[in-house]
Amino acid sequence: MLASSQPPNFGKDGHFLAFSKMISFFSIMAADMSSTNNSTPSSSSNGDEVTTATAVTAIILSIVVGVVIIVIVFLIVRCYQKTRSQSANIAVAAAAEETVNAPGSTPPSISIAVTNDSSAAAEPIERFLDDMMRDKPMRFTAQDLERFTQNYDQKLGFGGFGVVYKGRFPNGVPVAVKVLKAAMNKRAEEQFMAEVGTIGRTNHINLVKLYGFCFDRSIKALVYEYMENGSLDRFLFDENHRIPWGKLQEIALGTAKGIRYLHEECQQKIVHYDIKPANVLLTTNFNPKVADFGLAKFCDRERSYVTLTGGRGTPGYAAPELWMPIPVTHKCDVYSFGMLLFEILGRRRNLEFLESVESQEFEWFPRWVWQKFEHGEMENIVSACGIEEKDREKAERMCQVALWCVQYQPEARPSMSSVVRMLEGEEEIVPPTNPFQYMTSLSVSPASGTVSENTSTSRGTGTDDSESSSSRPLIRNSA
Ligand SMILES: Nc1ncnc2c1ncn2[C@@H]1O[C@H](COP(=O)(O)OP(=O)(O)OP(=O)(O)O)[C@@H](O)[C@H]1O
Ligand SMILES: [Mg+2]
Repeated sequence: MLASSQPPNFGKDGHFLAFSKMISFFSIMAADMSSTNNSTPSSSSNGDEVTTATAVTAIILSIVVGVVIIVIVFLIVRCYQKTRSQSANIAVAAAAEETVNAPGSTPPSISIAVTNDSSAAAEPIERFLDDMMRDKPMRFTAQDLERFTQNYDQKLGFGGFGVVYKGRFPNGVPVAVKVLKAAMNKRAEEQFMAEVGTIGRTNHINLVKLYGFCFDRSIKALVYEYMENGSLDRFLFDENHRIPWGKLQEIALGTAKGIRYLHEECQQKIVHYDIKPANVLLTTNFNPKVADFGLAKFCDRERSYVTLTGGRGTPGYAAPELWMPIPVTHKCDVYSFGMLLFEILGRRRNLEFLESVESQEFEWFPRWVWQKFEHGEMENIVSACGIEEKDREKAERMCQVALWCVQYQPEARPSMSSVVRMLEGEEEIVPPTNPFQYMTSLSVSPASGTVSENTSTSRGTGTDDSESSSSRPLIRNSA
């Protein structure tokens, strides 16, 4: 039979084709029947009527069967499409749940700690975690954190905001969990939500990524990307963990780019308030990432960390305006970055006590650098810091940028984008002015951040005492 040579196509998109083929199949059948009947030479008129009726019946039958088939095929296709869109919706709903709600509202809780190990179940979890790492911070429960950290098994360190533990997501990605100590009032809680939303949306190669947070009654914590080499201070101040100065210069530049992003490039300007080597973390390849930005806004530091800075910043790095009646802007970060640059330059702490803290005999490296610079002895700085000839130009540039960053007047300090350009050698550096002039009229202790009126300046940077200060052996056995 003609019709049987090509089977109808019942594929996903071929039901119309199937229908038309079905129609032609039955039409041909009907025509066949009709022609068979017509082929009888001795047919009567009665017989003709029967033949016509049979043909009509065959056509109607073929149409009905065709319609039934197309309806069935249509329903099957619809059913298939509906199932697909339902599973897509489930994925979208899961992704939507991770969105942190508006400031002040409580976002929904999501647990990602799934214990099913089968590979079929693992794939969507991987995808889910990948999404999470790219987008907004997730909310975790206290139980999630216990699981990630194996019951807070491994302590990485602690600071003014709390203790940091090492952990691991179910997919094996390592994390650092910072458990916040501060008890929060209602306002602080609202700030927490607002800031976590802002921090979580930052995305830059030189910023530590915030994966998520926990906001339980019993525990408040932040879950960060884990940085294999810990913080920069270890590599600056610990004799056993030295890295080449050239690498330190790259770290300085990367850190500057991270702060530039916070100040100038992210959706909402973020002032860090606590730039220092302990808040610059290093990847396996010693790429720097700035940590702890945004924390100062909603989280008070432990009392032991607070001096006259009113809870923000760390003495020695905090800009004068943080402990003086001068308006505070993002330029306070530029000042702290300048202090960090001095420490990178000298690979030593800026402030070192000569004998004991009680004796008040200390060396303050930034002022020593200024005095040398003022007297045109730049090469002395470079050689005293043990920097090789090949790095000399970069070191001299860094020295001048540092002096600009720590200017007393915030407006006199450069923007971070200018700092980046100067460090890269793309912007000419005008010789800096004395950043410590104010110390000649005020007695300032860089150690504690205390200020008092002073008429006879014993520690000023003016010509009076520059001789005695600069003659001191300032560099601890040159690295
Ligand atoms: N994301 C991280 N990855 C790896 N180690 C980390 C991470 N965050 C913090 N640490 C470790 O935990 C230590 C303590 O960090 P923490 O931020 O609590 O203190 P801090 O930086 O010294 O002071 P502050 O409270 O002013 O930030 C760091 O010095 C670092 O070694
Ligand atoms: Mg820190």
